[in-house]
Amino acid sequence: MRAMGPYFASSAAPEAGKSDTALAPWGETAVVGKPLPRVDAAERVSGSAVYTLDLQLPGMLHAAILRCPHAHARVKGVDTSRAEAMPGVRAVLTASTPGAAIPWHVTRKGALSALFDPHCRHEGEEVAAVAADTPYQAYDALRVISVEYDILPFVSDPERALDADAPAVHEGGNLQAPTDVYERGDLQAGFAAADAIVEQTYRTAVQIHTPMELHGSVARWDGDRLTVWDTTQGVFGVRSQLAQMFKLPLSSVRVISHYMGGGFGSKFELGKYGAIAALLARTTGRPVRCVLTREESFLCVGNRPSNVITVKAGAKRDGTLTAIEARLKGPVGAYPSSSTSAYLVADLYQCPNVRTEETDVYINAGQARPFRAPGFPPCSWALEQTLDALAEKIGLDPVELRLKNIPTVSQLRNNRPYTSTGLAACLREGAKAFGWSAARKHPRGRGLLRRGVGVAAGMWGYPGEPNASAIVKLFADGSANLNSGASDLGTGTKTVLAQVVAEELSIPLDRIEVENADTGTTQYAPASGGSQTVLVNAPAVRAAAAAVKAELLAIAADELKRPAASLLLRNGAVEAAGDPGLHVPFPELKELGRREVLMAVGWRGPNPATKVALPFVAQFAEVEVDTTTGEVRVVRFVAAHDSGRVMNRLTYESQVIGGINMGIGYALTEQRVLDRQTGKMVNANWHDYKLATAMDAPADVIVLPIDPHDTECNTTGAKGLGEPATIPTASAIANAVYDAIGVRVADSPISPMQLAALLAKSGTRG
Ligand code: MOS
Repeated sequence: MRAMGPYFASSAAPEAGKSDTALAPWGETAVVGKPLPRVDAAERVSGSAVYTLDLQLPGMLHAAILRCPHAHARVKGVDTSRAEAMPGVRAVLTASTPGAAIPWHVTRKGALSALFDPHCRHEGEEVAAVAADTPYQAYDALRVISVEYDILPFVSDPERALDADAPAVHEGGNLQAPTDVYERGDLQAGFAAADAIVEQTYRTAVQIHTPMELHGSVARWDGDRLTVWDTTQGVFGVRSQLAQMFKLPLSSVRVISHYMGGGFGSKFELGKYGAIAALLARTTGRPVRCVLTREESFLCVGNRPSNVITVKAGAKRDGTLTAIEARLKGPVGAYPSSSTSAYLVADLYQCPNVRTEETDVYINAGQARPFRAPGFPPCSWALEQTLDALAEKIGLDPVELRLKNIPTVSQLRNNRPYTSTGLAACLREGAKAFGWSAARKHPRGRGLLRRGVGVAAGMWGYPGEPNASAIVKLFADGSANLNSGASDLGTGTKTVLAQVVAEELSIPLDRIEVENADTGTTQYAPASGGSQTVLVNAPAVRAAAAAVKAELLAIAADELKRPAASLLLRNGAVEAAGDPGLHVPFPELKELGRREVLMAVGWRGPNPATKVALPFVAQFAEVEVDTTTGEVRVVRFVAAHDSGRVMNRLTYESQVIGGINMGIGYALTEQRVLDRQTGKMVNANWHDYKLATAMDAPADVIVLPIDPHDTECNTTGAKGLGEPATIPTASAIANAVYDAIGVRVADSPISPMQLAALLAKSGTRG
């Protein structure tokens, strides 16, 4: 099975002795786990937080990008003379501008494209860019650039992409890579041993990231030094790409991302908008802001690709899985993508005989990018509906069927055991909180409105790795500073990391300042994502804070003439166990005052060598289906998550509720619609692309943390939450819809149009 995309790359483990691995796991915690509001909540809600998009620099110019309006075309000529003469226009870039021939989509076989590639492989590809004094002048200038296009035939249907007569997206055809096959056991023997077999083809729609904060960058040159404020999940990766692009030392490139309004995987890399801002800034000698419009963000900064997944699964009468086979065909868009959509088939359930076959094809549409659990929600859509169908066929409760096949080892990793597997507990506790048994027996209703319940399980497949680092400083007055390179995507990373400092140093959260995501001033952290941000950074922060604490205790022991081991920290003071009289607030320690600051660097140690640490989940949905209109309403929801330790109950709930809402959109309304005649996206805006809104969210949601007290995964016990929160949501809803009306909806989304047609076909339309 293919490895996950490059953003999960790991680096070497840190030197022994400097990492967190020497620390004992936490027992009960005082600050960690509490439902504390975000440390930057006031800035975020008052509007005083300066996001990349808010930045205003003296003399700053505004960029706008001219994009190819066709699904597939070749640029034969660009005339920018009228644009250059427009008022306020300071620079225009095209493929032929000296210095603008930047290779893009670079693979081992070479670059597949360029910053401005005359071969436009999808609607929205970059053709030219303008910098002007105002945004209006920049957009006006775009309108007078004349481009001569050779409009080419396109392919947007993945099931047509490999036909001999299909238009080639790239020279060499539309197969991204040879079909990827994973196999274990004996599939035929497995099916022969089954008492029941089900098989069905499922299709998932393309989902668009649409983070609240648009994609954009502001670039400024100071001589040969480049500073870019970027809305990115990983400042260090963007720095490397910019350094390479401009042939600069890493030390001369500074990338800053203090506040983020979401990325969901679409902001891991340097965007073309960032490269264009930097180029235009160099050309004009002025700072340049390049922020995409909402409409542009639908076309060219990524998506969750669609998939056609055929699953065949067999089980014994008692529910034991004997074989699973899956064939997946996914279009990645016009450029490569490297995630796998077959993972869950091979590792979520114990099953000796498995075969997966994955084929990725190019089509003339925007490129796939990592998107909140890349590959997992589509796979869940197919696999978890398959499990449901199998349960029905053998007459077993869907929860029981899943419980029968709980893995204790990672079958994709040589059967290495998990540090903890909370999957059974998620299913059992979740079912209890949901009232599953009773709900299964409830009448479905006989009128126009039918009720149904569904369950789906899930897991995430990639643990975090070293090497994150952090610096903690304790100042003479007892306040502290935390320095970490991690982007806070809006999930509360800064808050959770500050809680770790507060926990170790026993100081209040509001005495801790956090400096983050600035390659010029902060410690290295990998890009935030992959449900790894907390579990790669928090152990490093803990190591740094613990080292400061050790130094503080040593100072106190010296000054108070007591052994360090007898002292403890409580409420910003040094105290002694068994001596209630001793209470020395940090500022009263003379040596601390003399030194002004205690400082330590912490690293995250390696993962356990012989085990695998991953999060698990089970979600339960109740839906109401209107059999006349085909509308589906999610009435209530239970999300039981084994993500290890809850670091902050409030941000934990936010993460899960957000994941559920994203899953509701995926299940019911979200889909990129390409016009069959033109290949152009017809719903590239927030009006026609239907996100689930507050109106679609069930009022009754229970977020149920299942904490197995994992002391082996890392020194904080956290296993990652962001992605598991959305992996099985849509499948649970699809299973609930089936329970309500007895109609299996194989294709996402379960739109009213599709469902009404299916109801009519099955004779159950109200
Ligand atoms: Mo995510 S796809 O790891 O932002």
